[in-house]
Amino acid sequence: MIRTMNKLPRRCFVALGCALLAGVSAAQNLTQNLGDAWPARAAAAPDPALEAQVERLLAGLTLKQKIGQMTQAEIQTLTPAELREYAIGSVLNGGGSWPGKTRTAAVTDWRALSQAYQRAALAATPGVGLIWGIDAVHGNGNIHGATLFPHHTGLGATGDEALVRDIGRATAAAVRAAGIQWVFAPTLAVVQDVHWGRTYESYGADPQLVRRMGRAEIEGLQDGLMQGQGRGVVATAKHFVGDGGTTHGVDQGLTRTPFATLASVHGAGYYGALDAHVQTVMASFNSWQDSTTVDGEGKMHGSALMLTEVLKKRLGFDGFVISDWDGIGQVPGCANDDCPQAINAGVDMIMLSTDWRRFIANTLREVEEGRIPMARVDDAVRRILRVKLRAGLAAADGDMPPELKRLFSPVPAAELQDAQANPQTEALARRAVRESLVLLKHQPGLLPLAPSSRVLVIGSAADNMSRQVGGWSKTWMGNDTTNADFPQGQTALAALRAALGADHVVFDADAQRADAKDFDAVIAVLGEKGYAEGAGDIKGTQSLRHSVRYPEDLAVLERAKAWGKPVVTLLFSGRPLYVNDLAARSDAFIAAWLPGTEGLGLADMLVRPAKGEAYRFTGRLSFPWPAAPCQFATDDKNAWWPVGGGLSGDEAQGTTSPTDVPDPVGGCVN
Ligand code: BGC
Ligand code: BGC
Repeated sequence: MIRTMNKLPRRCFVALGCALLAGVSAAQNLTQNLGDAWPARAAAAPDPALEAQVERLLAGLTLKQKIGQMTQAEIQTLTPAELREYAIGSVLNGGGSWPGKTRTAAVTDWRALSQAYQRAALAATPGVGLIWGIDAVHGNGNIHGATLFPHHTGLGATGDEALVRDIGRATAAAVRAAGIQWVFAPTLAVVQDVHWGRTYESYGADPQLVRRMGRAEIEGLQDGLMQGQGRGVVATAKHFVGDGGTTHGVDQGLTRTPFATLASVHGAGYYGALDAHVQTVMASFNSWQDSTTVDGEGKMHGSALMLTEVLKKRLGFDGFVISDWDGIGQVPGCANDDCPQAINAGVDMIMLSTDWRRFIANTLREVEEGRIPMARVDDAVRRILRVKLRAGLAAADGDMPPELKRLFSPVPAAELQDAQANPQTEALARRAVRESLVLLKHQPGLLPLAPSSRVLVIGSAADNMSRQVGGWSKTWMGNDTTNADFPQGQTALAALRAALGADHVVFDADAQRADAKDFDAVIAVLGEKGYAEGAGDIKGTQSLRHSVRYPEDLAVLERAKAWGKPVVTLLFSGRPLYVNDLAARSDAFIAAWLPGTEGLGLADMLVRPAKGEAYRFTGRLSFPWPAAPCQFATDDKNAWWPVGGGLSGDEAQGTTSPTDVPDPVGGCVN
């Protein structure tokens, strides 16, 4: 917290002081401007029958049970018996958290744990089941064997809403099969600065693209949910609001922008999400300050203006707000286990890494002391019950809720298959990979390679599923996995072998061979190691140059260039990177983002099929691609390629990459 306070510019405090002296609080100023900045949305008309059920359930709950509904604990920190004792209403598993801490846990193990928790929940609060949330941000990433789709950057490049809707549906099916009802996705960040380690969780720099794609993903995830059709999961629009706008892209940092821009840029995705009837919204770790008036709201988790006045009232959101991982602890004056400010600001359910016991005790006391009004608690619990009723996780007559009847019945084999790679999801993911690749440079006639070609495959990422899938894949960081963690899918190398025949493909990761005379082409697959959240931030004065962090990737291209054979380079990365030195040593250069497990989609674009038409490259950039080492800002006008850029592959003219320019002395200071 102290660190964050230090980040606030000094004049903010001065200005706040001035505003207070003048008798006008910053919040008052902002509340007055709210109407201009945030266009109102009409709330959906309440459903009287549903609301009567909510009231009936609420009336039957004690204060302890109500606080339990507002509590979300991590699965490693509580047993079903504890869940029952404290009447806890929700659990989550963090990235890389599996039942029994077993990374290969079977789908049936996930279901068994879910059933044990649900039984405990029904015993603690008859008729009200538990809601379990998971970060299935590109497929059901935590679960062994699930197909992983390209991360959002790649999906943004497809521009294909129907595809994203189908990915949402497939993800929902995979999550349900594991006995889980709620997904912490989509991220609706509109990234302004690619220093940010979460850039790959963003669809792009264009607010309207984020709005369209986010809406489609939610429609897919929640498809069938409200109709009780035994399909769909609860979705989460995250992170409200301004996560992609922090200064220098610092994770969890300060977003300084006018109130109207906060709404039109960072808020855009939420209009789409609410149109898709998203049921939960996650508060963001970032702070916000108005860059014109220097009024500020500080941490979003403590902002009544944003969570209650804007989101719930102005935008008519009738679901519930979930806090982010111990996010309440970052509100000034709060701790991870204690934050009346966040609840009073409008957080309805609190995500806790470990401290749920003390959180419950503190919150009970604060309600009894009147520091958290009973009306606020009731409002929070109403919202949670409303979502649970809609999702079939609660029943007003105290009966077994319909979704739990399904969970406790013998699982149809077809449903279990949804959790694992299966032909439909594989085909969908493979198509997503094809559509997501962006061709940045191409020597006419080079691609696609003839199916009879002999190729030499080089590079650190060619046979490395960990680099191909990125963060939020099996583990949180995604950098502590091996190919054995991914029995599903194919690495780029395996896919090329499948496409060309194993005897036409030789793999030499370090390019140590003397020459490539027996080959028609060299395919280099390069990439970043996995990262998530702040660990992926490019920090300090470091540049965007990939080859500084991965000199071995430049070294293999150096050697390959000397062979005199055409070089096709594929880059796996969580963000656009400075690659002029790499592209200069390549005859074709492809931004492949973090494509996920279906390597066959990569091979589809590189090798002409033996029969039928070759694919054209349809992926187009949703971020500008930098031409200089310090081009972090997504509104930079001097990019190599602007948003929308990319080649089809059948252009008659060859393209060149911009010349390599050295990093500035002293590094990047922007
Ligand atoms: C992230 C969220 C995520 C949550 C649960 C947080 O650190 O910011 O995006 O949903 O953890 O894993
Ligand atoms: C969890 C993530 C979470 C993160 C927050 C990790 O230990 O696995 O899910 O987002 O902590 O800091």
